[in-house]
Amino acid sequence: MKVLIVEDDLATRKGLEESVKDLGGETRSVGTVKDAARAVEEFDPRLLIVDIHLPDGDGIEILRAARESDPEREGIVITGQGSIDNAIEALRAGAVDYLLKPLRPAQLEVVFNRLADRRRLESEVETLRAELQETGRLGDLVGRSPVMTQIFDVIRRVAKSNAPVLITGASGSGKEVAARTIHRLSRRAAKPFVAFNCGAISPTLIESELFGHERGSFTGADKRRVGYFEEAAGGTLFLDEITEMGSELQVKLLRVLEDRTLRRVGGSQELKVDVRLISATNRDPRDAIKHKKLREDLYYRLNVFPLALPTLAERREDISLLAEYFRKMIEEQERSGVSSWDPKALELLLAYDWPGNVRELRNIVHRAYVMTEGKIIRPDVLQTLLPKGARAAASRKPPLKQKASGAAARKK
Ligand SMILES: Nc1ncnc2c1ncn2[C@@H]1O[C@H](COP(=O)(O)OP(=O)(O)OP(=O)(O)O)[C@@H](O)[C@H]1O
Ligand SMILES: [Mg+2]
Repeated sequence: MKVLIVEDDLATRKGLEESVKDLGGETRSVGTVKDAARAVEEFDPRLLIVDIHLPDGDGIEILRAARESDPEREGIVITGQGSIDNAIEALRAGAVDYLLKPLRPAQLEVVFNRLADRRRLESEVETLRAELQETGRLGDLVGRSPVMTQIFDVIRRVAKSNAPVLITGASGSGKEVAARTIHRLSRRAAKPFVAFNCGAISPTLIESELFGHERGSFTGADKRRVGYFEEAAGGTLFLDEITEMGSELQVKLLRVLEDRTLRRVGGSQELKVDVRLISATNRDPRDAIKHKKLREDLYYRLNVFPLALPTLAERREDISLLAEYFRKMIEEQERSGVSSWDPKALELLLAYDWPGNVRELRNIVHRAYVMTEGKIIRPDVLQTLLPKGARAAASRKPPLKQKASGAAARKK
């Protein structure tokens, strides 16, 4: 931290210089108002320590001017003769402290450490945006925790192959984003990415949705319909909530994957299938097999590349990065000029345990954004949005009984 000392008494000045250096600061010292003005320009200090009574004027004026050209600057006013008036004036000029001579090094240390802490948090907020451009991102997937970095590696490798991928992870942990990212990085990127949620449609209809049907194949089938497999031709088909598919249909899906051909419902023609299959579940697949929700033979076929996404609580390092990513994304749409975070607001996000994972974080950031007046998202806004007393609950079990480090890909 750069510290400008403005003090005409040489002994006091020496003492200050030494204290500041001991605290790891870089100093420049002057003894007059005139020299101080030039030093502020050239040295660009972050902290000014100014004496009030100087040979050619008032030290508080220096502080006022320095803070006018850069409000980030902080000041400490020191004086030999303390008076209430001086103290008030110093605080009005934006001084963080008003100290009487002789100064004890410990007094300076308290102020110094407080400023250094604040500066560290502020600069972290500042660099978030810059860092996001260079690191911490693969496609639309954001993260730079060790576990996400490992997942990025797996995704990059997996994208080059045509093998099926099974993505596991709790709700809102980013399974669909991961699937899209694999597609975008693959040779199939120019072809369609088709997402189908097996849990969102009645089991009896899934077959015709997936494989299509011929006219008249069942009541209500008054037209021929092309299924999602055909729609995704040459591209990627993402089957979400794979365990919601009935057991009979799982057999048919397995056959399609093995033979690379399909037959529409009510059809006789064998159609060639060129689709890369990515499936997902928020259950533990082993558990689903035990409960007969997932056929074991299909599981082995789908799980050539397993990709296990961690919960957000398992990668807290990514929370502020994600929060800033969403803020920026929302700002690009809404343009209300909400440009930054109060470090205390970020701390609240870090302390929460996010049962709804990244989706929940995104929603909270959006609501905080909308409720923010001014440029900075403040802690009080978040306090109203986050559940009361919701702090990191170490006892809460993650919804998926898997190891946090289960991101390894194995080729079978
Ligand atoms: N790593 C990430 N980086 C950026 N955004 C993410 C990330 N993970 C999730 N998201 C965002 O969180 C939301 C939920 O992600 P997604 O739909 O992929 O979750 P999911 O695991 O498929 O959840 P569900 O099991 O409920 O279907 C989306 O808005 C997505 O943009
Ligand atoms: Mg999903």
